This record gives sequence, C-alpha cells and structure tokens, in this order.
Amino acid sequence: MCGITGFTGSQPALPFLLQGLSRLEYRGYDSAGITLVNGKALRTWKTKGRLAQLEELLSKDLAESCGIGHTRWATHGVPSNMNAHPHMNEEETISVVHNGIVENYAELKEELMENGYVFHSETDSEVIVQLLDYYYNEKPVMKEALLKTVKRLTGSYAVCVTTIFEPDTIYVAKKESPMVLGQSPEGTFCASDAPALLEYTREIYPMQDGQIAILNADRIDLFDLKGKRQELKWIHFPYDIQSAQKGGYDSYMMKEIHEQPSAIRETLRGRFHGNKTVMPVIDQLDADWDSITNTYFIACGTAYHACIYAEILYRRYTGKMSSVIPASEFRYSNPSLNEHTLCIFVSQSGETADTLAALRLAKSKGCITISVVNVLGSSISRQTDAVLYTAAGPEIAVASTKAYTTQLVLLHVLVLKLAELYGIRVRGISRLIRDLRHLPEITEEVLAKEPQMKELAKMLKDQKDAYFIGRQLDYPTALEGALKLKEISYVHADAYYAGELKHGPIALIEENTVVTAMATQPEIAAKTISNIKETVARGARVILITDPFMSAQEFEYVVRIPDISPELAAVPCAVLLQLFAYYGAMEKGCDIDKPRNLAKSVTVE
Ligand code: G6P
Repeated sequence: MCGITGFTGSQPALPFLLQGLSRLEYRGYDSAGITLVNGKALRTWKTKGRLAQLEELLSKDLAESCGIGHTRWATHGVPSNMNAHPHMNEEETISVVHNGIVENYAELKEELMENGYVFHSETDSEVIVQLLDYYYNEKPVMKEALLKTVKRLTGSYAVCVTTIFEPDTIYVAKKESPMVLGQSPEGTFCASDAPALLEYTREIYPMQDGQIAILNADRIDLFDLKGKRQELKWIHFPYDIQSAQKGGYDSYMMKEIHEQPSAIRETLRGRFHGNKTVMPVIDQLDADWDSITNTYFIACGTAYHACIYAEILYRRYTGKMSSVIPASEFRYSNPSLNEHTLCIFVSQSGETADTLAALRLAKSKGCITISVVNVLGSSISRQTDAVLYTAAGPEIAVASTKAYTTQLVLLHVLVLKLAELYGIRVRGISRLIRDLRHLPEITEEVLAKEPQMKELAKMLKDQKDAYFIGRQLDYPTALEGALKLKEISYVHADAYYAGELKHGPIALIEENTVVTAMATQPEIAAKTISNIKETVARGARVILITDPFMSAQEFEYVVRIPDISPELAAVPCAVLLQLFAYYGAMEKGCDIDKPRNLAKSVTVE
C-alpha cells in the first residue's frame, strides 16, 4: 500500500512531495524516496525507514520545481535502501515510482535481461523503468513508451514517471491502484490519495483504470490506453484530512472492512493456473512430501482462528490429520517435531512473540516451516523456509478484519497446493477455484448488507453476553465473530459448536439472550437448525446466517450470504460478523480503533 506524490509547477516541488507523503503515512511504509528533476539530471534520495530519515539526507535549498515521491510498503523484496523507490534506468534519465503488484515481472525481467538490462533491486517495480527505457530507446516519445510499457504489465499499478528528456513533465498511469490528480495556481499534482492534496486544492480527479495523465505546470492532459484524449472532470472533495485518511469512514476498522474485496483480490492474484495452484515458493521447498507424518497450524488470536479453518480443510481435502495449536501453548504441548513435520505459522504482523518462539522451536528440530504473513520482511517471514504473503496492506485498527479474510483465502490455496503435492485430487476443484476467484465480488455483495447488520446490532445495546454457534467450517467463524465482538464492544461473547450447546452452555440461555448462528454447511445444516431451535425454545433471539437456499421461515432474523461453495462461506460470514461487532460497539459508544487493554502486535510472550 505504497504512497505516491508528484508535483510540477512554478514553486519548489519538495515541500509538496514531503507533506503529501506524510499525509499518506496512514497507508503504512517501510522506506521512502524522492526524485527531483533539475533540468540536466535526476537527483534521487531514498532510504529504508521513516520520512524523517529521508529528510535528514536532503539539503535545505532544493528548489527544483518538478519531482516525484514515494513511501514503500514492501511486497516484493525486503525493506531496504536498494528496494526503496524511485527506481531509475542505468543512464539515470528516467525515474519511476510504483504502487501495486506487477504479476508478470519475472517474465519481463528475464526478457529485459536477455536484452542486456541489469537489475539492482528485488522489486517487481524495477521492470517498469527498464521497459520504459527500452521503448523510449526504440522511439523517443515518452507518452508512447509509457503506453507500450503499461500494456505489457499484468497486475495492478499506479505509476509516476519523471525524465530529463522532459524536465517539467510528469507521466502518470493507473490500473487497480489508486491515483488522484489536482491543480492549483502553483502547479499540478498527483498522489495515491486525496489527503496529500487537500492543503493545496479540494478539486480533485480520481483517475480511472486504463488512463494515463501528462502533468505540466499549468495543465493536465488525460488519455486512454489507445492514446485517445479523455475529459477531466474535477470533483469537489468533501472530507477533512483526518476523515480522508480513513477514506471517509468513521474509523480505520470500517475502512479496512470495506477494503476486503480488493485485499482478497490482491492476495489471490496470480495464484491459479487453470485448476492448479501457483505457489513457486512451496514447489521449491526441499521436502519429501510423501514422508510428512505430522502437520501443525500455529498462530495467535485471529490468525489462530484462520488456522482452525485451515485444519478442517486440510483434513477434508487431503484425508490427513493435522493439529492446530495456539502459539502460546505450542512449546509446552510436547509436539512431535522432526524433519518429517510440517509447521505452518500464520501471523498478520509477523512479529508476535509467541508465534516466533514456536517457530524457533520447530526450526531447531529440523521441521519444514511455512509462514502466511502480511508484513513483508517481518521476523517470521524471514525465518521460515517459505513465506506466503497475504496482500491485505497495512492494518491499523487493532481488531483484525482484512488480515483475517485474506489469511482464510491464502490458507485455502495453500491447503489445495499441499493436496496437489501429496498427489491427491480434491473433489469439486473446478467449482472451488471458480468460487475463490469470485470471492472479491461475493465480498462486495455481502458488504451491501451493512444496513441489515447495523439494525440487528441494536439487539446488543443492553446485552452483557452474546453467543455464536456453528458446526464444522462455521465453527471458526463463530469463534472469530465472538472475538470481534468482545474485543471492540466489551460484550462478553462466547462461541460454541452448535451440537455442544445441550451439554452445558444452554444453561446460559434466557429470555432475550442474543445468539448468532451460522448454518452454511449443507451436510450438517439441518442438525444446526435443530440446535438453534433449542435456544429459541428457551427465549433466545436468534440471528441466523445461512445460504440462499435453506428454509428458514420459522426464524425472525435471517441474513443470507450469496451462493458460494460451502468451503468458502467463512469469508462472507466473517464480513457480516465484523459489521455486527462494529455496530454493536457503536451502540455501546466504544472507541473502535483502539479497544482498551489490547495491542495490535504483541511482542512479549
Ligand atoms: C494481537 C492482536 C490480534 C492478533 C494477534 C496475533 O493479540 O490484537 O488482533 O490476531 O495479536 O497477531 P499476528 O500479528 O501474529 O496475527
């Protein structure tokens, strides 16, 4: 989730570039850099770390009036000076910043290397500047070189280019990564998000996919990918800086809930080829897959719930047993660890102390280790044999939302991959992969149920307790729903296997107790429904979350998820329960982004 700024005008560019990047800090970053064009040369400064460290490198009297800036959230290549943007061609005549993921960068890199290009970073982004150089050398017209370059890219990009060939011009291109444009008497601007521009102008233009823009001091020209001119229609931006950083939402949590369709899309990007999964880092592991005797899924908190989901899938798809153990328990549970053991660690931050300690134990015993992590270059990602990244982007709210759903989908693909490696054919694989690909739209559809969840959350207003029930793959959803609610609303919330209610918890059900029940698994739904009726008979108010087909006339509050393979229902259900917890916490007037007593990343055991 990098941040981009660009300016060309009659004033020095640096003040805008730096204030703009600081306004984009909420997007998260691990390195920063800028390029200024001084007519004869491009001057680039970049460093790992914070903006303050970049500012230390810069002298005070930089008066260049055209430049680009970048804060990098690492996706390909660890945070380092070399991987920081901008990236330049060998002659240092073109400089590029990029936000997004170039899916086909490995092929492009190989092709460029065959043409004599030398790469200096581990990033996917560097191929963009080298391609620009290649096409510009073919025909020295930058607009054409940019059009040819972006047509070669698969994946997502917001790209900003400066060049000594046109020292007062900035070229911009956008597909599936955000970019907004602005203009004031001082010059023209571009940035990843509106907060970077708001001190200068409130009239902005959010670029559309497949557009390129050419910025000069007094004008912006907009084109489509065929080079045909397009109309630029300014819109008045209604929010102040603080709410703009939250995307106009009241809290980071709500913003992050709404980012899930794109976070899931990015996480699944390039993960399938026909009915096969694509995970080269797993293929490259030095493992004898037939000799694996034990598999463990290990994590804390929300990530632990994602592990419970993965464990059920693993058993279902591979027929093999695995164990799921909270990281804080792992070292004390006499796990059977040797070179035939596969340990899968899941962590948003990649820094959780308990998970790291469990990983170190597994490594000391020679286990094969895989991690599913959100933060690139984090301790867990560096120490496992193979790392798979969720592409949730920075998660700022303490309560995890988009990290969880991206963990679910990535673990799902990993389990399918393991089945392939074990030589097991998963039944219904085509439907599963089709539905996995469809998940971003499904998530979008389910987000439209926000008003319904808000209404239902009113039931929580005077409640001290709430219960969540489900069976099989609905059970981790119940656990996560209860965790979300207790974390942000302080309502005591518990999750149970629906079939276990009658063995104890049903004693807690009284008139008006709120029970949220998931019944999305067809083979067990009828049984879940009878378990739910047991609670209704004791006065519970039941919210039933189910598929589009289940008969549910006897229930007053029914929320239907879209039609999707039951193995994937956990994703839309999680989104509904996040909204339920969110509005439950609103009913109670809680500080949603910063719940009491909780930390985003727990680095003590
Ligand atoms: C903390 C956070 C949770 C998170 C857990 C594990 O407790 O408050 O939201 O699930 O740590 O964090 P990780 O970064 O390892 O996923």
